[in-house]
Amino acid sequence: MLRKWAVLFLAVSPIVFGFCASHLDSRLEAKRKQMRDKVRQMFYHAYDNYMVHAFPHDELKPLSKSFTDSLSELGNLKLEHLPRGYNGSALTLIESLSSLVVLGNNTEFEKAIHWLSQNLNFDVDARINLFECNIRVLGGLLSAHILATDSASRLVHGSYKKQLLFLATDLALRFLPAFETPSGLPYAWVNLKFGVMPNETTETSTSGCGSLILEMGTLSRLTGDPRFESAALRALRKLWSMRSSLNLFGTTLDVQTGEWIEYSTGIGAGVDSFYEYLFKAYILFGKEDYWKMFHSAYLGVQKYFRHGPWYHEADMRTGKATYWQLTSLQAFWPGLQVLVGDVAAANSTHREFFHVWEKYGVLPERYLLDHQIIHPTEKYYPLRPEFAESTFYLYQATKDPWYIEVGESIVKSLNSYTKVEGGFASIRDVTTMQLEDHQHSFFLAETCKYLYLLFDDEFLANRNYVFTTEGHPLPVIRDWQDRLPETFFLTNRTYFKMNEKKRKTSALSSQVCPAISLGSQKQPIESACHVPDARLDHRCLSDDDCGIDSTTCRLRSCSMAGYCGLWLFL
Ligand SMILES: *[C@@H]1O[C@H](CO)[C@@H](O)[C@H](O)[C@H]1NC(C)=O
Ligand SMILES: *[C@@H]1O[C@H](CO)[C@@H](O)[C@H](O)[C@H]1NC(C)=O
Ligand SMILES: *[C@@H]1O[C@H](CO)[C@@H](O)[C@H](O)[C@H]1NC(C)=O
Ligand SMILES: *[C@@H]1O[C@H](CO)[C@@H](O)[C@H](O)[C@H]1NC(C)=O
Ligand SMILES: *[C@@H]1O[C@H](CO)[C@@H](O)[C@H](O)[C@H]1NC(C)=O
Repeated sequence: MLRKWAVLFLAVSPIVFGFCASHLDSRLEAKRKQMRDKVRQMFYHAYDNYMVHAFPHDELKPLSKSFTDSLSELGNLKLEHLPRGYNGSALTLIESLSSLVVLGNNTEFEKAIHWLSQNLNFDVDARINLFECNIRVLGGLLSAHILATDSASRLVHGSYKKQLLFLATDLALRFLPAFETPSGLPYAWVNLKFGVMPNETTETSTSGCGSLILEMGTLSRLTGDPRFESAALRALRKLWSMRSSLNLFGTTLDVQTGEWIEYSTGIGAGVDSFYEYLFKAYILFGKEDYWKMFHSAYLGVQKYFRHGPWYHEADMRTGKATYWQLTSLQAFWPGLQVLVGDVAAANSTHREFFHVWEKYGVLPERYLLDHQIIHPTEKYYPLRPEFAESTFYLYQATKDPWYIEVGESIVKSLNSYTKVEGGFASIRDVTTMQLEDHQHSFFLAETCKYLYLLFDDEFLANRNYVFTTEGHPLPVIRDWQDRLPETFFLTNRTYFKMNEKKRKTSALSSQVCPAISLGSQKQPIESACHVPDARLDHRCLSDDDCGIDSTTCRLRSCSMAGYCGLWLFL
């Protein structure tokens, strides 16, 4: 059913035939409106149940209609240091703030700000994960602060006195002791009241210390206190200096010695948001350095991990493949590729994820590509947002109605498998659809938000935003830019119009791969910069099978091992 629609819609896609667009548009818009309302209901079902059964604790347990004070457990699989006497920080409410604005619920947003201003207190004996607390709590507060004070929005807060910014500053000051290491790489864990514990583990992940810059940088820009941005940047630079000669980064490392622990690496757990933040920091702060770092890192990924539409893991030192697994977290990658301009590659990877989604009804945490089966133990689906996120980016970039169908399928699955009376429950095992008593805060911060933004353009109409890795929007502000990235206007990302004469060599500098020329009679869908791998097994026999690299627009060649790659220096 879905596929048929896809073919139908693409054949008469408004991009190709502008003249029959209006009829299709109105049908599509009616569909989107209907879906938007469904997502709105989902958000409020999750939110209202949290408020009734769990607030002001951290997260809702939807099956037992109770709560968990999970901020102190996030990222902690072994639960070894569970604090006593910690009673929660209203995590899910903080995570819902920006979603309330996206949904246009200003009344509830103000009410929440009022409560948090009066009651939130970070002087608590709780050992928290720096990364998780940064993206969820600091990011949630900062985004809400900016949205509350943004003159372009219709929120008028006569009584708002920057309370969220004070809370954010108080929290981030409690992060700083974690950065006091010889390497500048922060500890993964810090106690909000007492700082780093004496016996704290020195192991952290690449994303754990390499994706703090958006939130910490934003805080420094808002307060004028440079300590936050400096600490995050110092860690990022140190991490950068640890790359291998192949421009690859491991997954875990030691913050005391600055040495790698786990060399096998990919684009999923432990590394994902590191790549994301290099690029998004470039958009937000306009520093050329971030682009240079991202660019080299992106080429490393495409060269060593990519296998046709999939991404496997490889050893950072040798580039040799290690694990052939698709993980649910990797599904964010196509969304990032859309921002970079590599829409065609994003589309093909997104499609593979959708096949797996269709096979199980949702995405399993881990799927073994070489055997085409689900991982024997990691069969869960905790309502993760990444696939919806990429679907949103791809739709906004292409306006291809097929992505609306994908979104519909996501909404349908979530409602039929995970909705319970007391909220939305995670799936413990996607083969049996057995549920788990947990509604993660990111379901409200991200999953519902990205689905809503897939079906509704209003929030994005007036401003350019960068979404943090937790889905909290930060507006792109000219004053924050060292230099405005040349042609990067986010609201313009939906327009592929390229002046043929001004063909540039970098996908980024031309914003979108200088590919899709409007107005021509030819099929303009496939990026001219990206010829898909010709063969079904995605391995090449000769250079002709490889096409053109979409970041650099250079010809790719076929390696001895049968992989397409870019072997030229830039
Ligand atoms: C948390 O709640 C318990 C039980 O209500 C109470 O005894 C304790 O003092 C509270 N702890 C804090 C830090 O408020
Ligand atoms: C805002 O959220 C509250 C709490 O769920 C709800 O009662 C209210 O109807 C919402 N308002 C709008 C305009 O959606
Ligand atoms: C700290 O770690 C050492 C070595 O593992 C152990 O012997 C010691 O008991 C630990 N101390 C505390 C307070 O946990
Ligand atoms: C995405 O891929 C499908 C299948 O290969 C193709 O039909 C479609 O045109 C592509 N869409 C875009 C926007 O590249
Ligand atoms: C979009 O891009 C065009 C051409 O590059 C530019 O003139 C225009 O100002 C941009 N629009 C916005 C909203 O940035």
